[in-house]
Amino acid sequence: MAKCSICGAEAIAYVPYQKRYYCSRHYAEFVEEKVARTIEKYKLIRRGDRVVAAVSGGKDSATLLSTLAVLRDRVGFELVAFHINLEIGDYSQASQRAVEELASRLGVDLIVFDISRELGFTIPEASRRLRRPACSICGAVKRYLYNAVGVELGAKVATGHNADDIIGFALKDFAMGDYEGLSKLTPMVEGVDGLAAPRIRPLYNVYEKESFLYVLSKGLPYIHRDCPFARLTSLEVQFKEFFNRLEESRPSIKLGFLHHLAREKPWRLGEKSYTACPECGLLSSGGTCTFCKLTRRLTGEARGRRVRVRIKELAGERGSMGLG
Ligand code: AMP
Ligand code: FES
Ligand code: ZN
Ligand code: ZN
Repeated sequence: MAKCSICGAEAIAYVPYQKRYYCSRHYAEFVEEKVARTIEKYKLIRRGDRVVAAVSGGKDSATLLSTLAVLRDRVGFELVAFHINLEIGDYSQASQRAVEELASRLGVDLIVFDISRELGFTIPEASRRLRRPACSICGAVKRYLYNAVGVELGAKVATGHNADDIIGFALKDFAMGDYEGLSKLTPMVEGVDGLAAPRIRPLYNVYEKESFLYVLSKGLPYIHRDCPFARLTSLEVQFKEFFNRLEESRPSIKLGFLHHLAREKPWRLGEKSYTACPECGLLSSGGTCTFCKLTRRLTGEARGRRVRVRIKELAGERGSMGLG
């Protein structure tokens, strides 16, 4: 039986590009150090920053919240978790339960935004009424809410996208000729004052498999199911599988790819002209933002402004970030 290359205890994992075996304790430390190095190298978080971690309940966001909770004292930043209950049947109820258990175990404040309660519709309903795929509506709602919470709390927004996700998006953007999308796949996307919060991806170099083994090695609660609307045959997924096959014969090829993609500087939204949505005051690529348009069609009212106020109230109720 293989032994941990550090302490000699029974190994649970082998990391081919390091040629090392790890026991569960040292495996968790290996992933935490990987995240720490990404944060340092790309200056994702500085002492005194506020960070909102967007947590879905899946394994990657469990890895995100746990690694950030470990690093919070070392780096010296404030951390709060943000969960959106999308009201996709019992999948969403189970996700929220997993997030609540995780946040309480890690001692991190949690803000939950329930879209049915706050906006009066669920994602499946919105999809039926607008005749648009659930994932496209869900993506627009989530992106708006991440940004709103970051702007309202004056925080950077961290998401749990892992190395394989970024590679899948990058190859898809390349194949579709979306070079703007491709250039935004850096570990950080800078914010624009008052309009857009900075976005960070601390798991940029963490492989999907590493994230999975991390939650197992720490025994973290997470939801094992995928969203019922997930498309397992999407182009991103096929590109991910392709790169995973390459990695088997060329260990670390994925890390090399990401190193080049990350570039020297983060993508700056200011490189293009953006405007403020006249309804809610947040980022828009021109005129009323997607979220305000979408909520106006579904509820008769553009909801952005009210959502911003509500997020501040929810954070205040939790006493998060000195807003109590
Ligand atoms: P996905 O868009 O489902 O691939 O998830 C990518 C990342 O977005 C996750 O790792 C989380 O950081 C964030 N995220 C996805 N769904 C939610 C949610 N319901 N609430 C909060 N954050 C989420
Ligand atoms: Fe949004 Fe599945 S998580 S549609
Ligand atoms: Zn060990
Ligand atoms: Zn708006």
